[in-house]
Amino acid sequence: MKSYQLSMNTRTYFGNKCVEEAVKKEKKIIGSKTLLITTGTALKELGFVDELVSWLKSEVFYYDKVTANPDVDEIRNAIKIGKENHVNSVIGFGGGSAIDAAKAAAVGIVSDIDIEQYLIQELILPVDTLPIIAIPTTAGTGAELSKGAIISSREKKKKSGIRGENVAPTVAIVDPTYTFKLPLTVTMETGFDVFAHAAESYCAVKADMFSEMLSEKSIKIVGEALPRLAKNLDDHEAREMMSFASHIMGYNVKNIGNCLPHRLQYPIGVVTETSHGAGLIALYPAWMKYESTVNPMRIKRILDWLGCEEGRPEDRIRKWLNGMNIARNITDLGRVPSAEELADMVSGNLKNDKLADEDNIIVTLYKESM
Ligand SMILES: [Fe+2]
Repeated sequence: MKSYQLSMNTRTYFGNKCVEEAVKKEKKIIGSKTLLITTGTALKELGFVDELVSWLKSEVFYYDKVTANPDVDEIRNAIKIGKENHVNSVIGFGGGSAIDAAKAAAVGIVSDIDIEQYLIQELILPVDTLPIIAIPTTAGTGAELSKGAIISSREKKKKSGIRGENVAPTVAIVDPTYTFKLPLTVTMETGFDVFAHAAESYCAVKADMFSEMLSEKSIKIVGEALPRLAKNLDDHEAREMMSFASHIMGYNVKNIGNCLPHRLQYPIGVVTETSHGAGLIALYPAWMKYESTVNPMRIKRILDWLGCEEGRPEDRIRKWLNGMNIARNITDLGRVPSAEELADMVSGNLKNDKLADEDNIIVTLYKESM
């Protein structure tokens, strides 16, 4: 039996309409001044930002200039606001991008080193960051628990993570009702990311009995809930199920990590400026085809739990994606350089995927996903 270590030290609140009570309970952690980060103005327009601000008993400095692939320039601006105003905490409110930006800002506000250096040189993080409060509004990333802030430097053409225990949020507040009005594309792409976390952590070298249990549960939930949402976006029960699956996959992202698709998506995201989920969808048929050569039983179980029809792994997943009208290739996402050039941009730990040992596998996966 494989021994394992488990870190579940983010205090979590989960439930419909749980935010007001949660921020009241966390008043001390949030402090008298907080920096609130969102991705654009959508949540403001929906009234969610004003509602949250009314619940916070703190002075709130609001920064909404974060884009889908948070760039170091945007984060530098957030850090500047945080430093100038001596904030006590950072709240990331939104999808994974807002939460990742909040994490990076919480590192940068207490540090004199430029945030890009942490990304490029993979420097050791400060011992303490500011407290990070993550309030996700999509069901996908698990960023409210994970210990990585995924950010980009457009100038240096690099997208990677600032990683460390201190980057994991102090508090995660997950209210599924925020996801109730998400449009179809966001619902499907973030929903696929939940599945990707479950599938990749299940195949990962680091997988253990605890993480496997969480993966199985999440894959079964996605297999039921995502096709339901593809037909009816107002299926609130399916939304709640997806929020839960997304959240528990935060533990696997944090403790186990992912496999090759997550490493290979980042260059696609940087070059095409498309979402994380969109790139993953394009990579999955090829990855499942080759992963099944090193992990045949695991890939079979994943596809069975998801409810896919019988066939070759790549056909099973493509058919499932087609059933929801979300199958696509990399070239559908925009102009991209050659497979070799994309492969040169891949970074991060590849050793968590047994498949990474195969010759030329990254170029092969890109080529077959074009
Ligand atoms: Fe992901």
